[in-house]
Amino acid sequence: MTYADSAGAARKPTLAVVGATGAVGTVMLGILSERKDVWGEIRLIASPRSAGKKLTVRGEQVEVVALSEEAFEGVDVAMFDVPDEVSAQWAPVAAAKGAVAVDNSGAFRMDPEVPLVVPEVNAHAARVRPRGIISNPNCTTLSMIVAMGALHAEFGLSELIVSSYQAVSGSGKEGVDTLREQIAAVAGTELGTHPGDVRRAVGGGLGPYPAPIAYNVVPFAGSLKDDGWTSEELKVRNESRKILGLPGLRVTATCVRVPVITTHSLTVHARFENEVTVAKAHEILSTAPGVVLCDNPAEGEFPTPADVVGTDPTWVGRVRRSMDDPNALELFVCGDNLRKGAALNTAQIAEVVAAELTGVS
Ligand SMILES: NC(=O)c1ccc[n+]([C@@H]2O[C@H](COP(=O)([O-])OP(=O)(O)OC[C@H]3O[C@@H](n4cnc5c(N)ncnc54)[C@H](OP(=O)(O)O)[C@@H]3O)[C@@H](O)[C@H]2O)c1
Repeated sequence: MTYADSAGAARKPTLAVVGATGAVGTVMLGILSERKDVWGEIRLIASPRSAGKKLTVRGEQVEVVALSEEAFEGVDVAMFDVPDEVSAQWAPVAAAKGAVAVDNSGAFRMDPEVPLVVPEVNAHAARVRPRGIISNPNCTTLSMIVAMGALHAEFGLSELIVSSYQAVSGSGKEGVDTLREQIAAVAGTELGTHPGDVRRAVGGGLGPYPAPIAYNVVPFAGSLKDDGWTSEELKVRNESRKILGLPGLRVTATCVRVPVITTHSLTVHARFENEVTVAKAHEILSTAPGVVLCDNPAEGEFPTPADVVGTDPTWVGRVRRSMDDPNALELFVCGDNLRKGAALNTAQIAEVVAAELTGVS
């Protein structure tokens, strides 16, 4: 495919956003409007339900078209922000039409022929894509992996033990609606002082969660898999290994849902091949692309979801050397699950592909 028009002028690649009307798609249109504009046409695609609807991207109104084979005509890069089964069916169709598909769903993440890419960590992997598909990791892994990749490059990672504190927008619109409704039901009451009082107040309105999420934490995210692990916990393990290129990395995760709208947090115990110091870790984290170090607890400075939401970087604080292990660090990490955890990383991957296709970086 040539990236020059008949007069020899450079042609910018055509981008399709599949799922432009969804939670991630909406954030994506904002991100595409803010970032350096590397795209020619941006085509917006969703289900037939949304066809004809007009959405704003780069300050212009663009009409949404229904997903079909023809919708990929002339498309160079197609982002998929749609449910797993829609990606599973349509990303290969886009690839067969000559587009590079960048998929945000879970459909292809562990496919050995599909790279799983975080540009700050393994941008090179995006070039090897036998199926014409590149996968975007899940939001929990993405919330910590940029910081972990930077520390791994210096110290050599050997083990991760993490606990997540996951926001409800990670469960889509239904999760956000559920938390808002439950908070409305308990706000201004004395609830939260007796066993079951919050549960009785929210009644049947548990939404996508197995327990109340207002005034509570729920030690279960995703679906139940073998031996008591959840799908989210297995994703953190499997995806961290694949992104870092460490198939034997020891990873243990406990994933917990908390009453936060957007921005996932994690506590991380990271063990390395080499001895660590907080000073060196600070130096690495304060210079790593995509990471902000916010670590001055004496002044009350550490990242929290309420301060991080709506921002792009991975925020790191509470960096300590483990008291019983000179090779291990303890950290607290926050990242916006809808930005770096979803739309932003997909946009960055698409930009890596655009640079490769056009030879312009
Ligand atoms: N929420 C997060 O934090 C997060 C983070 C990382 C990854 N993800 C992944 O990103 C994907 C999108 O998630 P979301 O939260 O944005 O979901 P969502 O709000 O439910 O949006 C789904 C999108 O997919 C479209 N769609 C659904 N069925 C379709 C079909 N049959 N044909 C064409 N388009 C169809 C919808 O179009 P209509 O509006 O026309 O129905 C809508 O644009 C999912 O795979 C999710 O797992 C989400």
